[in-house]
Amino acid sequence: MLASCRSHFLREAKAGTWSFAKDCARTPRKPVLSLLLQRSTSTGPGTAKDDAARRYLASKGIQDKELMDGIIKSFPSPPPSVRELESFGDAGLSSLAAAVARELAETRLRAQAAPIVVFVDSPRGNVRLELQAKEGQTFFDLAKENPSTLGMEMECACGGIAACSTCHVIIDSKEQFDSLPAPEEAELDMLDLTEEVTKTSRLGCQLVLTSKMNGLCVTLPAQVKNLW
Ligand code: FES
Repeated sequence: MLASCRSHFLREAKAGTWSFAKDCARTPRKPVLSLLLQRSTSTGPGTAKDDAARRYLASKGIQDKELMDGIIKSFPSPPPSVRELESFGDAGLSSLAAAVARELAETRLRAQAAPIVVFVDSPRGNVRLELQAKEGQTFFDLAKENPSTLGMEMECACGGIAACSTCHVIIDSKEQFDSLPAPEEAELDMLDLTEEVTKTSRLGCQLVLTSKMNGLCVTLPAQVKNLW
């Protein structure tokens, strides 16, 4: 999924026709670039190829280190070669740089926003967790960020793409449930196959948290079925 979105994004950036909003709409959970920007570059920094890519970007007027890092990490196998960068042409490269700059700005804004507090009751662990989240995160992100608490309770086997149902959460109040953004088709399809589904069930990986959801209370079902 990620690989195909990434190639789609790079292909359109190359053609200068990439649209961030369009790509996000096709992506089941989060902006693709958020994921891309989190990728490690174990083969990258400090190597001759990385230096060459940075020199090439600098020669095209892209001097900002954070922006350079973002562009380099957006490639499937970073760092890209100079030939790969050249193949974008000037228009494609500036389209890619603009998309990365937008995503970096959004990430910065999310980081500055006031934290959101959510509560998770687990009948399996017999505990109530109080977790702090940032705008734009999902329960999938929270499970990864809190491996010894929520991560122990929520497997998220499919990696957050609405394909396993192990992130099933039940919203405690009908009022809170009604105030949430409506689920996409993929989420509804998966909920149809989910065990112990209720009228206020959602997939935690598809619930993008906003400040309006501060205080959200959810309960984990006693059983989950990994459909992945
Ligand atoms: S993590 Fe698999 S459906 Fe949510």
